[in-house]
Amino acid sequence: MNDQTVAEPNPSALTGRKVRLRELRDEDLPYLCTWWSNPSQSVFQTTDAPTPRPSSELIPMFRDWSKNDGTRWGFSVEAKEDGAFVGHVTLFGPNVKDRCATFAIVIGPEHQDRGYGSDATRLMVSYGFAELGLHRIELQVFAYNPRALAAYRKAGFIEEGRRRSSVYRNGAWHDDIYMGLLRDEWEAQQGNVA
Ligand SMILES: CC(C)(COP(=O)(O)OP(=O)(O)OC[C@H]1O[C@@H](n2cnc3c(N)ncnc32)[C@H](O)[C@@H]1OP(=O)(O)O)[C@@H](O)C(=O)NCCC(=O)NCCS
Repeated sequence: MNDQTVAEPNPSALTGRKVRLRELRDEDLPYLCTWWSNPSQSVFQTTDAPTPRPSSELIPMFRDWSKNDGTRWGFSVEAKEDGAFVGHVTLFGPNVKDRCATFAIVIGPEHQDRGYGSDATRLMVSYGFAELGLHRIELQVFAYNPRALAAYRKAGFIEEGRRRSSVYRNGAWHDDIYMGLLRDEWEAQQGNVA
């Protein structure tokens, strides 16, 4: 008889040190729309010039990102200490053959710099590798976003390249940085390589 290892469920798959990941709720949407429309935040998410968009356009976008239907996974981020809704994370565009998906995150400005983004990034990366069986997770970040770069580097992402002077913002040109993290690199970080 084969010695089969029984897979244990991971009770902390959606719970980190500071945050929990949960389903998108209707009451999260006004916050997400406000953050997305705030020019001080939207400059980190899109190359577009600051362009306010109506909630009627943004709400379907956030719902789509949170479908969890096998084509994308999106969760609201809540603080463990008080259950406050603080942000949103997604893994989107999975390529089934190559087992690769793209990571994106927003933490509301009033909740930033408290470790939530770093913890949510680590958690979603673990979810992608341990629960979804991904081989690779990648992302794009603008060079003028040192806070995101710090959070991503802490989660193990490595810079793989940059499109030089590709983003025009506030009268200047900036690089667009590509980062990636492979499953075996993540496993080595966890100290759980078989
Ligand atoms: C980027 C983002 C997810 C980070 O989450 P956060 O909760 O604010 O950040 P954290 O508190 O987890 O950690 C930020 C890290 O950046 C560091 N940091 C902050 N400002 C920095 C700066 N100007 N230069 C270098 N490092 C900086 C902090 O020191 C911290 O690192 P540490 O824990 O080692 O001290 C969040 O700020 C956010 O959503 N911003 C707006 C949207 C966005 O940028 N999304 C990502 C698009 S690619």
